[in-house]
Amino acid sequence: MSTEPFGEDTVADARELIARYPESRSALLPLLHLVQSVQGYVSQEGIAFCAQQLGLSEAEVSAVATFYTMYKRKPCGEHLVSVCTNTLCAAMGGDAVYQKLQRHLGSDDEPLGHEQVAGTPGEPGSIMLEHAECLAACDLAPVLQVNYEYFDNQTEQSAVELVDALQRGDKPAPTRGAPLSDFKTVERRLAGLLPDADDEYWSDVDGPSQAVETVRGAQLAADRGWTAPAMSDDVPLPEVEAK
Ligand code: FES
Repeated sequence: MSTEPFGEDTVADARELIARYPESRSALLPLLHLVQSVQGYVSQEGIAFCAQQLGLSEAEVSAVATFYTMYKRKPCGEHLVSVCTNTLCAAMGGDAVYQKLQRHLGSDDEPLGHEQVAGTPGEPGSIMLEHAECLAACDLAPVLQVNYEYFDNQTEQSAVELVDALQRGDKPAPTRGAPLSDFKTVERRLAGLLPDADDEYWSDVDGPSQAVETVRGAQLAADRGWTAPAMSDDVPLPEVEAK
C-alpha cells in the first residue's frame, strides 16, 4: 500500500513522536492523530504509513484505528461538532440539540447522520456532526464540543447560531479552554506536536479551563471542612477465579 500523501516533514514528525517511547508501537495513537492532521481522517494510506513507521502489520493498525471513535475513517469537515447525547445531557436537552443540528445541517427530509459532513469535507466551513458519549461536563449540560473545545449550557438556538458562524468562517470563542482552530490543527496538537511556548500559536493550546459550576462544590466543601471518608486499607479484594 502506498503512503503517498505523507512527505518528509510527516516522516520527521513521526520519528520525533516514536523517539519518545521505549517501544515504538506505543507511538501508534499519536501517529494516528498525526495522520489525521495531514489528511483529516485515517485513510488506508494512513494505516499503511503507521504500519511502516512502527513495524506493525496493517491489520494491527486497523484494529486500533477502528476501535476508537476519535479516529475518523472518512474525511472530516474543517470542524468536528460533537453533541453529547448521553443520559444527563439528553435529559437536559442534548437530544433535542442534536436533532435540531441534524435537520439544520441537512434537511427535514434528510437529516444529517452521525459522522456525516455538511459541505465538502476539509473545505472551509464544512462540518462533521457526531453524537458523543459523556463529555465529562455533566454539570454544564447540555454540552457540545467543536474540535474538542467546550460550548456549555447549549440550547437548540445557541447550537444553530454556533454552526452558522462556523459555516461563515467565524471561530466563536468556546465557553472555556483554548481558542478555536480547525480539526487538522487540533489533531496535530493531539499528536503531541505543540508549538514552542513563545510561539504566537501557543494560545492554540492554552486557555482558562475552569468552570465556575464545576469548582463551586469543591469550594463549598473546603469552606465547610467537609472531607470524604478515608478508604480502609483492609477492604478485602474480591476473589478472582483462575481460568
Ligand atoms: S452526559 Fe453529557 S457531559 Fe456527561
